[in-house]
Order: sequence, then C-alpha cells, then structure tokens
Amino acid sequence: MSAAPGPVGRYRSRQSGLPSGLVGRLFGRLMPRDTATANDHAIELLDLAPAVTVLELGFGQGRTVQRLVERGCRVIGADASATMVAQATARNRAACRDGRARLARSDGTTLPFADASADAALTVHTLYFVPDLAPVLVEVHRVLRPGGRLVIAARTADDPTPTWMDPNVYRIRTAAQLVDALRSTGFVSIERRPERDPHGTNWFVATTPRAADARR
Ligand SMILES: C[S@@+](CC[C@H](N)C(=O)[O-])C[C@H]1O[C@@H](n2cnc3c(N)ncnc32)[C@H](O)[C@@H]1O
Repeated sequence: MSAAPGPVGRYRSRQSGLPSGLVGRLFGRLMPRDTATANDHAIELLDLAPAVTVLELGFGQGRTVQRLVERGCRVIGADASATMVAQATARNRAACRDGRARLARSDGTTLPFADASADAALTVHTLYFVPDLAPVLVEVHRVLRPGGRLVIAARTADDPTPTWMDPNVYRIRTAAQLVDALRSTGFVSIERRPERDPHGTNWFVATTPRAADARR
C-alpha cells in the first residue's frame, strides 16, 4: 500500500485539480513545466488539418489554446476553475476577443457548445478530476463531429502513482478503465499509444463514428 499524502501533497493535489486564487494563478504559471510535453504530443496526435475547430477540456493556463490558435485553429474550451478561465483568457486575449477562442467555465458535464461543432478534441491531465467519466465523455462525443478525433493524455493506475497525489482528488484510472469508458460512450478506433513521457503520461486516441459507420 502506498503512503498517504501529507498536508502539502493534499493541498498541491487540490490546487492541481481546481486551481484557485493567488496560489492557483501561480500553479497555472508553473504547470507547463510538467505538462508541456504531454500537450505538445497530444496536439501532434490530433493530426490537425488547417483551420479546424478544436475542443479542449481542462485548458488550465491556456498554453495549448495559444499553440492551437497560432496554428490557425479555432478553439472552444471548458475548464472548471474560474481562476484558470481568467488566466487562459488573459493569455489569449486577442483570440478570445475576435472569436478564434471561446473559453468557458464548465465541469464538462454540460458543455456550452453546439452538437458536432468541433473537428477534434483533447484533454490533458484533467480526467483524474472528473468523478464520473461517462457524462463528460458523452458531452465530448456530442460536441465532436462524426469522425472527429479525441486525444486523452493521462497517467494511468498501471504505473506507480507519486505519493503526493491525493487519491481523494486524483482518480487515476487504469488504461483498461479509460478504454472501456471510451468504448461504452460510443467512441471507436480506440488506441493506447506506446510512447510515455518522463511524467508517466499515456496517450489515448479515439474517434466518433462516421455517419456511414453509424448506419452499419
Ligand atoms: C493539472 S491541470 C492541467 C491543465 C492543462 N490541461 C495542462 O496540461 O497544463 C487540470 C485542469 O483541469 C481543470 N479541471 C478539473 N476538473 C475539471 C472538470 N471536471 N472539467 C473541466 N476542467 C476541469 C482544472 O481546473 C485544471 O485547469
């Protein structure tokens, strides 16, 4: 059995899961040191055509929103933290103003975006903080167009979990649980990628069925 996290680990876990206030803003600024590689690889795996719309769940400080906008994408995003919505909006002020980015506060169970309005979606180191995956994956599926690709970047419970991560905050699933959740919410062509980064990140790629697949 792994050691229980101390007060610092519990606080760090809470701030990672829902950054808030001054400390949350600092967490947001520091986060990319740990998460940039995972995000950059998730973008690569989306294999984006020019000028597509990308949904990001849990955009944090908005670095990936910025990268996507710089590539000519439109971004629609949701994050549960008011502090992160403010930080990501400030980081992407021009894009938010002219409509290239639309960033909303949401826990993912109801996304304020139209059906089939995204060509692709990604979520990086965020699903741990979602108590029940099904309603959130159903929403992501609804917002993705038929044949749209989703990339998930996340640690899995198949590897040892750092002791500071509070299991009451971090619900780290096994790869099999993530794949099952994707399958049971209607995703197809689900693949667990073989590569890992130094933070133990796994990447999963899945797509929504194309209209032709749905008729079969
Ligand atoms: C560890 S941070 C990762 C941020 C960013 N994806 C990155 O890789 O740098 C987790 C983010 O998920 C957000 N979050 C937590 N629960 C969420 C939920 N249910 N729906 C959407 N965002 C959520 C947090 O507010 C935080 O910004």
